[in-house]
Amino acid sequence: MTRRVLQLGMIGGGSGAFIGAVHRLAIQLDGEARVVAGALSSTPERALESGRELGLAADRTYPDWRAMLTSERQRPDPIDAVVIVTPNHAHFEPALAALNAGFHVIIDKPMVVEPAHASALQEAATRAGRILAVTYNYTGYPLVRTARELIRTGELGPIRKVIAEYHQGWLATNLASEGQKQAAWRGDPVLAGAGALGDIGTHAENLIRYVSGLHIESLAADVHTLVHGRRVDDDALVRLRFAGGAVGHISVSQVCVGEENGLALRIYGENAGLTWRQEHPNELHLNTLSGDRRIITRGSTASQAQGLGATRLPPGHPEGFIEAFANVYRGVFAAMRGERGAEYPDVNAGAAGVRFVAAALSSRGAWVPLR
Ligand SMILES: NC(=O)c1ccc[n+]([C@@H]2O[C@H](COP(=O)([O-])OP(=O)(O)OC[C@H]3O[C@@H](n4cnc5c(N)ncnc54)[C@H](O)[C@@H]3O)[C@@H](O)[C@H]2O)c1
Repeated sequence: MTRRVLQLGMIGGGSGAFIGAVHRLAIQLDGEARVVAGALSSTPERALESGRELGLAADRTYPDWRAMLTSERQRPDPIDAVVIVTPNHAHFEPALAALNAGFHVIIDKPMVVEPAHASALQEAATRAGRILAVTYNYTGYPLVRTARELIRTGELGPIRKVIAEYHQGWLATNLASEGQKQAAWRGDPVLAGAGALGDIGTHAENLIRYVSGLHIESLAADVHTLVHGRRVDDDALVRLRFAGGAVGHISVSQVCVGEENGLALRIYGENAGLTWRQEHPNELHLNTLSGDRRIITRGSTASQAQGLGATRLPPGHPEGFIEAFANVYRGVFAAMRGERGAEYPDVNAGAAGVRFVAAALSSRGAWVPLR
C-alpha cells in the first residue's frame, strides 16, 4: 500500500533565512512529506514573495501564520503539521495556536524563550493529543545513536563524567551591529531570549540527555558577554551534577576565533570512554580501561543496530548534517503516522532545554536545582 505523503506548512524560512532551507532539504530526503503551504516571512510582502520563489501554490502561500492556520483548517486536504523556523520569540504563539487548531507542531530549538511558555506547550500538546517535536538535529547522527546504544547496553559501565562543548567563532565581533540577518535577532535579548546558551547550549544539553540518558539535577554557571556592546551572553561554562552521582560540564562560546561548529561530546564510564565530534561525524572513538582504542565508523557492523538504522550510504561515503536532520524527521513522521515505538525529540525535551537556559542564566556561579 502506498503511504500518503504528509503535508506540512512552514512558518519562517523565507528568502535569505538559514535553517528553514535545511529543514526543506531534510523533509524531502525520504519522500515522506512535502512543504505545501507557508507563511514564510515576517512581513506579508516578503512572505508572499518567498512562497512564489519556492513554487508554493498561490492559494497556500499566506501573508502570516494566522491566515495559514485559519485557511488550512477549512480545506478538505489540510496540512498535517506546521514547521516553525522563526526567531526564538516567534515560536510560542504559532505553536500554541497550531496545537489548539489540531495540527502537529515541529519547531526548532530553543523551543520557546520562557519556562512558563514551555509548560504551556507541554499542557497544550497533551490536551490536543498532538505531537510537538523539537528538531534537535544532532540526535539524528548515526554514531550519536551508536553512542547511546553502547551506553544503554552497558559497554561503558556506570557513567561518571560527561562533557559537552559547543564552540563557534562567528560572533567574535559584534556582527549584530552590522545588520547581519542571523546575528541581528540573536543579539536582541527580547527576540532571542538568550545568546550562546539558547542558541547552542540547548544543543549540548540535549545531546547529553539523549546519549547518556542522565538527568541534570543541578548546575552552576559562569555566563559572560565577552564582546563589547553585545546584549546577550556569548560564552558560558556550566558545571553539572547528575542524578545518580555523575558530574560534568557544558562549555559554549561563540567568540572562539577559528572555531566553526565545534560540537563535541565526551562520556566516561567505569569501563570505557567515548568521544564524538560533529565536525567528524562519521567516526566514534571508544577507549577501554584495558587499553583498547577503537574508531567505530558509520555504517560499519560495529556501529550497532541503532547506528545502522540511521545510515543511508555504505561506510566511507560521508553523511552529514542534512541526513542527520532527516533522521530526526523520520522519527517525527513515524510518530505522526501513529507508528508504535517511534522516537523523536518531544515537547519534554524542548522544555528541558528551556529550563536549562533559564537556570544557567539565573545561577551567577551558584548551584541551582533543575526541575
Ligand atoms: N537546529 C539547528 O541546528 C538550528 C540552526 C540554526 C537556527 N536554528 C533555530 O531556527 C530558528 C531560525 O533561525 P535562523 O538562523 O534560520 O533565522 P533566520 O533569521 O535566518 O530566519 C528566520 C526566518 O523567520 C522569518 N520570520 C520572522 N518572524 C516571523 C513571523 N512572525 N512569521 C513568519 N516568519 C517570520 C524571517 O523573515 C526569516 O525568514 C531559531 O529558533 C534558531 O534558534 C536551529
